[in-house]
Amino acid sequence: MSDTFESRLAEAAAATEATLAALLSDAPGEGELARPERLVAAMRHAALGGGKRFRPFLLIENARLFGAEGSGVLRAAAALECVHCYSLVHDDLPAMDDDDLRRGRPTVHRAFDEATAILAGDALLTLAFDILADPATDPDPDVRLALIAGLARAAGIGGMAGGQMLDMAGEGKALPAETIAGVQAMKTGALIRYAAEAGAILGRAGPDDRVRLARFGAALGAAFQLADDLLDASGNAAALGKASAKDAARKKPTLVALLGMDEARRRLATHIAAAEAELAPYGAAATPLSAACAFIAARGA
Ligand code: IPE
Ligand code: IPE
Ligand code: MG
Ligand code: MG
Ligand code: MG
Repeated sequence: MSDTFESRLAEAAAATEATLAALLSDAPGEGELARPERLVAAMRHAALGGGKRFRPFLLIENARLFGAEGSGVLRAAAALECVHCYSLVHDDLPAMDDDDLRRGRPTVHRAFDEATAILAGDALLTLAFDILADPATDPDPDVRLALIAGLARAAGIGGMAGGQMLDMAGEGKALPAETIAGVQAMKTGALIRYAAEAGAILGRAGPDDRVRLARFGAALGAAFQLADDLLDASGNAAALGKASAKDAARKKPTLVALLGMDEARRRLATHIAAAEAELAPYGAAATPLSAACAFIAARGA
């Protein structure tokens, strides 16, 4: 991992943390009646003090490619991280993956209770759209609308939530590789693809760049879930901050289970190469993004 990448990722993580901490305050916002203390505490448990912040990093670096930076970009990055954290809270629920450990701490339903975890997830998801709709994120309503529509599509029925449905339905089934790849493109790829695309939207990139960076994000997202599945099979819980060997235990439809670790690694390398190829037109400006590709490749190695 290059020094630049490490420091840029750490910088993005710190900025995201600060932005989220401010947004998740106890004080009611305009038009809100009250913020229940227990709900805010559960949301803060879910969203603060952990996580790689890889999606915020991607959004920030894609925006930077087109000269956009500052508090509006950080707000969009925080909104995306809210959706990601909500997806983790619900993913860990007993009705889904039933996990007790997340980011090295008890999962939200363990630290609080199931009803609070469901509501904390709901409220994080809704907060994301609240953040994006605010003119503080971008003064141009067309940009805000594009950010909102893109996130809705990435998170919803045909994106993350849809992919989670198929992931659950696929437990114990012998799905073909293309089907599994499709599930993963939805449950994980869609939000990572959005991270790249949202940066381009904030940077007022033209349609060609937007499409190219969406392709970059989709390829990186496919690699990301392969790396997560490889780590589940080979990593240890202490290093991961979450349980390992869970996918086999729950008979999850993964490419690692179907094709084995060597073939999963080969596919990961192919996705990384495809992602890197999309960065060629941006030259040295895309160095942090190609370092992100190397980071994901190394996670799955
Ligand atoms: C974990 O995501 C869930 C997947 C989509 C594979 P991350 O690996 O980004 O988790 P954090 O945010 O760093 O905890
Ligand atoms: C999670 O995939 C994808 C989400 C949409 C949250 P996993 O179930 O593999 O994520 P981990 O391993 O629990 O972090
Ligand atoms: Mg899961
Ligand atoms: Mg899980
Ligand atoms: Mg996993």
